[in-house]
Amino acid sequence: MARRSFDECGINTRLAHNGNDPRDFYGFVNPPVVHASTVLFPDAATMAARAQKYTYGTRGTPTSEALALAIDDLEGSAGTIVVPSGLAAVTIPLLAFLSAGDHLLVVDSVYSPTRNFCNGMLKRLGVSVDYYDPHAGAGIGSLMKPETKVVFTESPGSNTFEMQDIGAIASVAHEQGAVVMMDNTWATPLFFRPLDHGVDISIHAATKYPAGHSDVLLGTVSANAASWERLHDTFIAMGCCAGPDDVYQVLRGLRTMGVRLDRHQATALQLARWLETKDGVARVLHPGLESHPGHHLWKRDFCGASGIFSIVLDGGGEKQANAFLDALRIFGLGYSWGGYESLAVNVFLGDRVIARGPYEGALIRLQIGLEDVRDLETDLQRGLDAARGS
Ligand SMILES: Cc1ncc(COP(=O)(O)O)c(C=O)c1O
Repeated sequence: MARRSFDECGINTRLAHNGNDPRDFYGFVNPPVVHASTVLFPDAATMAARAQKYTYGTRGTPTSEALALAIDDLEGSAGTIVVPSGLAAVTIPLLAFLSAGDHLLVVDSVYSPTRNFCNGMLKRLGVSVDYYDPHAGAGIGSLMKPETKVVFTESPGSNTFEMQDIGAIASVAHEQGAVVMMDNTWATPLFFRPLDHGVDISIHAATKYPAGHSDVLLGTVSANAASWERLHDTFIAMGCCAGPDDVYQVLRGLRTMGVRLDRHQATALQLARWLETKDGVARVLHPGLESHPGHHLWKRDFCGASGIFSIVLDGGGEKQANAFLDALRIFGLGYSWGGYESLAVNVFLGDRVIARGPYEGALIRLQIGLEDVRDLETDLQRGLDAARGS
């Protein structure tokens, strides 16, 4: 019987049904959680030719395949690898496409551990690295060298939320033969599909919105047809497959990601607009706001916003930031985002070379969870009052 197809359906129908087909496993709605190293072959000839679908645990199981197929549907990709963290989803493709002597261009507003990997391990392996202004657009051409093999983008930028012209960057990079990667964790493929805008490799910290409950680490990397084989070969060579329970948890999370994102988006935008009116807030860094310098790019390319943005306090420094954070009762003080609970963190831009402001005061990043908006507003007001009184 033909596999069921949901290609023509709306996004929530696809999120609910894509990946596994229940008829493949006795009709159970969810796929089995296959804990596997060894897979048996029926005879020596099949084993020698590896002529069966699954051959060893590191090379895929029905559980990892279900998640990879579901992500391929969302990304429009030729293949997806599933790795143990979002950071691994950054490092594996960089290792796949870079060799000693190559040059790498990375957006300066990149997730800080990505920079750490580039400046540390990649430089040690003989790759030279330069950082570019997130507003470079097609101007990135002036930074390309004959040996530039990868352009690594992230839009909006981590913590400061600068928007990039991904289409313009991708076409300039391709003219010069470079592979374009994008960390698309903020938007998820529901609000931006990188491959449709010329990106070759789409990276996702599935730890965030797909998992959605702050209880699992996972990453996915999706490639177009031209880049898939090299990405997959590196994944197999590195032996960096994710554990089946974590993979299953993320597939479970994916089923409700659309409705959760609707709520994250609405609450975050409501709070961002409210914060723009408040004394004590100099600026709100949220690309969905008309006041954001990259709003036109967000409007042109994205079809939604997730639930994380930053505020700039009006004057003051670490003392005011700490007073703000310590006054919060609902927002937790913790890293990561995309979960059901709200979080706040003081942002430091110490390692940046270009995208450093200036900002009028301390930068506070807010991850907006699924709580009631009135309660979050009251909590943020407590923080603002404390910052002003400090
Ligand atoms: C933009 C971005 N990419 C990647 C990651 C890494 O994800 P993980 O925490 O799963 O390693 C993070 C984590 O905060 C992130 O914010």
